[in-house]
Amino acid sequence: MHANLLGFVSMMIFGVAYHVIPRFTGRPLHRPAAAALHLWVANAGLAGMVSGFILRIYRWQPGMALLGTGAVLSAAGAALFIYNIWRTLDVPAPRPAVLPTLAR
Ligand code: HEM
Repeated sequence: MHANLLGFVSMMIFGVAYHVIPRFTGRPLHRPAAAALHLWVANAGLAGMVSGFILRIYRWQPGMALLGTGAVLSAAGAALFIYNIWRTLDVPAPRPAVLPTLAR
């Protein structure tokens, strides 16, 4: 279930937000490198969580550690996203562009 909710729905929201928020608001993304880091952290976390959930069925103890690590990584990735978007929006609005034909 989390492969779908976290690995598809949430990832799509993250990706679309990183793409459209800077364009719609005219504010550049605060830390593009943090967004790239989020990609890796989120995918590592997702892999850990999904594997951990599967291994938990067999009551294999290391599976729980994997689940825990994956959960922490997934949460850390989401926190990185929230921080980056918050800092992106927390700057003064850019000046509206003046169309060349109207500038006299
Ligand atoms: C940091 C990310 C997340 C972590 C660490 C996490 C962790 C968990 C854990 C440990 C459970 C209990 C599973 C069990 O004991 O069987 C759970 C259940 C659940 N999670 Fe997440 N989750 C995360 C993100 C999400 C997201 C993004 C969604 C939906 C958009 C979601 C939806 C659910 C639902 C619906 C359940 C209940 C499943 C059930 O009872 O059958 N989770 N989650």
